Amino acid sequence: MKHFTTIYDVVDPNSLIEDAIQLKKTPYAYSDLGKNKTLGLIFLNPSLRTRLSTQKAARMLGMEVMLMNLDKESWAIEWNDNMIMNGNTVEHIKDAAAVLGSYCDIIGMRAFPSLTNQKLDYSEKLLVQLMKYCNVPVISLESATLHPLQSLADAITIKENWKQKHKPKVVLTWAPHIKALPQAVPNSFAEWMTKLDVDFTIAHPEGYELCEDYTKGATIEHNQEEALKNADFVYVKNWSSYTNYGTMPEVKENWMMDMSKYLLTNKAGIMHCLPVRRDVELSSKLIDHPHSLIQHQASNRVVAAQVVLKNILSKLPASEYKSIEQLELEEA
Ligand code: CP
Repeated sequence: MKHFTTIYDVVDPNSLIEDAIQLKKTPYAYSDLGKNKTLGLIFLNPSLRTRLSTQKAARMLGMEVMLMNLDKESWAIEWNDNMIMNGNTVEHIKDAAAVLGSYCDIIGMRAFPSLTNQKLDYSEKLLVQLMKYCNVPVISLESATLHPLQSLADAITIKENWKQKHKPKVVLTWAPHIKALPQAVPNSFAEWMTKLDVDFTIAHPEGYELCEDYTKGATIEHNQEEALKNADFVYVKNWSSYTNYGTMPEVKENWMMDMSKYLLTNKAGIMHCLPVRRDVELSSKLIDHPHSLIQHQASNRVVAAQVVLKNILSKLPASEYKSIEQLELEEA
């Protein structure tokens, strides 16, 4: 793969998931692959898991890592082309991305949506501009519309926890929240689940329809309890409205996932990408339940990043730099 910003960057998602499961058995088998290569991580938004798991994964492959909170620590970036920069922005992405690309062999970027302008957010302007100008492979650390590293970790978690022959029933259920959240995690999860060998249902109240580009092939259900019946995996997640963009239409019924609803499932594995608001989105009892896979998903973020970096590194030209030890070995 050249970049990793969507499932469409992956030639064979099932092979990638299988590679990740194998890599977990020998996590340091490729500890030289990234030698003399640098991963640059740029964040325009907060992160715990993505920030740490991607650094850990890169180091396990022998890479150097540089990290920058671009929103706080850098010059104010101008993301629009053909601008006379006589306002608040100090540096154009064309210049900044070229510099980053000259320092790094791969760049990861997190850039959340504004949630105020659907067309602009869904154009993925920031990601597209970075890819246009940095001249090296780019990994999405969660963009305006997708979170592919999370979805890959989720897909690995489902594969590891499903030993039966028939397809598992996977339900993504909307959950309440106190503030409007992006659609990136549910879009991305839907993008992956509709392409894997699972029976996939999305449950949400009316008004919370996701963009159809991602949900084609899924069963859509507005009755949460109906959707949960016989589920093998239940993924709990809030998102704001796509159609009435970025708003939180009122929901009269109680959509928080709790023990009474859990009893409708087939002793389902409970999933959430974290961070989670306990007893708002999902009951504490379920987060801490023996069938909760939430920590398993978080730990799989490392191997997800590792298998993606490994795949991209294996296609990069070998570094021209040779250590003194290598030169001495070649001379001997
Ligand atoms: N799930 C996830 O991406 O977590 P962070 O926002 O903490 O990186």
